[in-house]
Amino acid sequence: MLEKIDELLVEVSNFSSVNKDEIEQFRIKFNGKKGILNDIFAKFKEVPNEQKKEFGQKINTLKQAVESKLDELKNATSSNIILEKEDLTRPGFPSELGTRHPINLVKNRIIEIFKSIGFAVADGPEIEDDWHNFTALNLPEYHPARDMQDTFFIETNPDILLRTHTSSVQIRYMEENQPPIRILSPGRVFRNEAISSRSHCIFHQIEGLYIDENVSFADLKQTIQFFTTELFGKSKIRMRPSYFPFTEPSAEVDVYWGLNSETDYRITKGTGWLEIMGCGMVDSAVLKNVNIDADKYSGYAFGMGIERIVMLLYQMSDIRMFFENDKRMLEQFSGL
Ligand code: PHE
Repeated sequence: MLEKIDELLVEVSNFSSVNKDEIEQFRIKFNGKKGILNDIFAKFKEVPNEQKKEFGQKINTLKQAVESKLDELKNATSSNIILEKEDLTRPGFPSELGTRHPINLVKNRIIEIFKSIGFAVADGPEIEDDWHNFTALNLPEYHPARDMQDTFFIETNPDILLRTHTSSVQIRYMEENQPPIRILSPGRVFRNEAISSRSHCIFHQIEGLYIDENVSFADLKQTIQFFTTELFGKSKIRMRPSYFPFTEPSAEVDVYWGLNSETDYRITKGTGWLEIMGCGMVDSAVLKNVNIDADKYSGYAFGMGIERIVMLLYQMSDIRMFFENDKRMLEQFSGL
């Protein structure tokens, strides 16, 4: 029996392979449930007492030899296997590139258009105070027009809120700078509205502000017409009288989309016209609030929702898609 174990020890130490199946065979032969080691351990009872000590040591030596051999072979195969199976000359897998979000694509396009006529980008906080979001914009406390924008307030401090429009950035900018002012303020805004395919409680706006001497409504109209021509390739616009507390006079801008297709009929409700933004001449009360001389300077402002423009440009019908980060949607904008 002892000789048999010596032979097995030699077999173990001579064994070598880089083949996974062969190694597994070896493991089963020695270490498996019905393997040699268990077999020998079972015979231990039959060994006469005076030989038990020597026998026990031998089996342990064999057991360790098997285990260290298996370890050694496993380590060797994990580094060899690559050399054995892979073709190292094969080109690598391309790493996936991310895509720009359609909101950012269109935002950047709009910024480019206005940059080309001298507008710069201004930034501001999403968590605002009452002054910058409302009061300075000619919306004092209890003004009914505050209800036009359902607001998220901070429960413990009603002076702090999530901005409902990026006009707040314009106030901040005018507080720090004197005319001439020509800025765009893109960013996220928040309104406490029920989420549906047409509206969301988070969306993006881009607003513009131009203040200088002798700025007129005609300048505003020309600028917007330039913009719609650049972005949509459509230069026919109309302005309908409207109301915003911070502009006077105020208007909604419609662009003539045409009635060339079924889609045109559907999205324009058969009129051919699409509303794209609000605008107006900055109210002198707003200029006074930020210490700009309203007798010397005048200006215009406009604001639009970016989601709406993206939906028009790419014929998307559900605003919720922008916030779901579904790769199937995002990948359609790759390379743009
Ligand atoms: N701030 C307005 C809104 O969010 C949009 C607007 C901006 C209208 C500037 C007129 C002038 O509804």
